[in-house]
Amino acid sequence: MRTVDCPGVGAVSALGFGCASLGSRISEKAGRAAIDAALDAGITWFDVAPSYGDGKAERILGDALRGTTAHIVTKAGLIAGRRNPLKAAIGAVARPIVAAIPALRPLVKKLRPDAARRLPLDAETLRISLLQSLERLGRTELAVFALHEPSLDDVRNEAVIRVTNDLRAEGLVARIAIAGSPEIFAAALKAGLPADTLQTAHSPFDKGLASAPADAFTISHSVFGVAGALDKLKRVAPDRLTAAGFPDAASALLTYAFAANPNGVVLASSYAPGHLAANAQAASVPPDTTALSRLESLLT
Ligand SMILES: NC(=O)c1ccc[n+]([C@@H]2O[C@H](COP(=O)([O-])OP(=O)(O)OC[C@H]3O[C@@H](n4cnc5c(N)ncnc54)[C@H](OP(=O)(O)O)[C@@H]3O)[C@@H](O)[C@H]2O)c1
Repeated sequence: MRTVDCPGVGAVSALGFGCASLGSRISEKAGRAAIDAALDAGITWFDVAPSYGDGKAERILGDALRGTTAHIVTKAGLIAGRRNPLKAAIGAVARPIVAAIPALRPLVKKLRPDAARRLPLDAETLRISLLQSLERLGRTELAVFALHEPSLDDVRNEAVIRVTNDLRAEGLVARIAIAGSPEIFAAALKAGLPADTLQTAHSPFDKGLASAPADAFTISHSVFGVAGALDKLKRVAPDRLTAAGFPDAASALLTYAFAANPNGVVLASSYAPGHLAANAQAASVPPDTTALSRLESLLT
């Protein structure tokens, strides 16, 4: 596994393990197995949030990483939606059945908890959220604490600027991130917020890193998912991809992701063993910057 230097944290794996589905789409047992496999593959960077896995991801991740020196990013600003206990019980029974019969998926969607809820990103909430995350994760300090999709007002709030400085000075976190757009990151810097890390989406279809400042540590996500990059790239004829030097759409997006963020961490959801193997392999070779123009020229 290639490593990158994250100042104040150390050498960290270029591939990060995304925990958004840990405890929801992915059961605790399967998640623990995937985290063990990720550690074996050399991944030392894990990305989580209080809202992930319907509110269960931080505890599962903390248990799985106990006794390791793996680095953790968590966030504040979103918490899991409310969950009806009866629906939760039915959902747990139905999940393996639906895995075998995908046509039943719409039924299970109705059993999902409400959407994640926003918390006000004020100074008190930030501090309480971090302390609660530390407790669930079983840690006394974290690599990165991120403001989860903050607004312009949030990053300009003087009390928020003060508390983020304090949390770092108290040694609870090494770095402060904006998990959001580069525009909000720029506004945060201008307002004096001590953000030194930008976490944002980056793919050929959504280039969040394009305007990232050169001195920020960058974490990118949405290589395949949310914005539908993999589905979009699959519309390109396979022979055109092959002619451009990419065996398939997924490997094109992976090569592109590491080339676009050569000195930072690329996050991926890697629960399927085949996905972990492919993602770890792509993170083990030097970034190939020719992939940027090779892929972009196919899309114009
Ligand atoms: N605001 C934020 O800070 C923010 C926003 C979005 C995401 N994130 C973080 O980024 C992590 C990743 O989320 P994402 O949205 O970027 O998802 P993603 O990594 O693009 O994954 C989306 C889907 O692609 C699949 N996949 C993974 N590797 C693959 C491969 N080599 N070939 C084909 N398919 C593959 C995954 O499957 P399996 O998982 O089943 O293997 C998953 O179902 C999240 O877990 C979260 O930690 C942060």
